[in-house]
Amino acid sequence: MGGSAASARVQLAVEPRIDHLTEGFGDELHAVHVSEPSGARATDDRGAVTVCRGCCCGDPNRHPDIDHDRLLRHLRERLEPATRVRISDCLLVCGDSNVLVVSPSPSARRAGARPVWLARILSEALQDCVADWIGRGGPGAVPLPQELLAHVSAPFALPTAAGEGLG
Ligand code: FES
Repeated sequence: MGGSAASARVQLAVEPRIDHLTEGFGDELHAVHVSEPSGARATDDRGAVTVCRGCCCGDPNRHPDIDHDRLLRHLRERLEPATRVRISDCLLVCGDSNVLVVSPSPSARRAGARPVWLARILSEALQDCVADWIGRGGPGAVPLPQELLAHVSAPFALPTAAGEGLG
């Protein structure tokens, strides 16, 4: 499967769980807290990156050789203010820590783009791949870079539009 096809499949398959949370839909995941930067507006059409900082992501016991604060600073420096960076409690895929979720802008979302969950983002080099991808358009606009394909996380193996699961 080519990179473009794989990317399209991934974008169709990953359910926008975090957006549901921030939009207030009720389900068992509603208790997960996503903090928004102050000043976020309802008319904001920026995309977002959600950084998990729960029990495992960002935990020095889980990843003792990683400076998680430095990584978060680096990501913010690369992305803000054009893209929102928000922090979440555990996203329930701890085996994939550290987890990032790249959400398209609301307008891209309406055009069919879907959030992409990324696993094991544990270096500035991988963060740079994410930031460069977002800078070129991100989900729905530009295929996922080859370097990130092995980092795609499909938390619930949801079916794609074609009816096939990732699991
Ligand atoms: S702490 Fe990140 S998925 Fe659980």
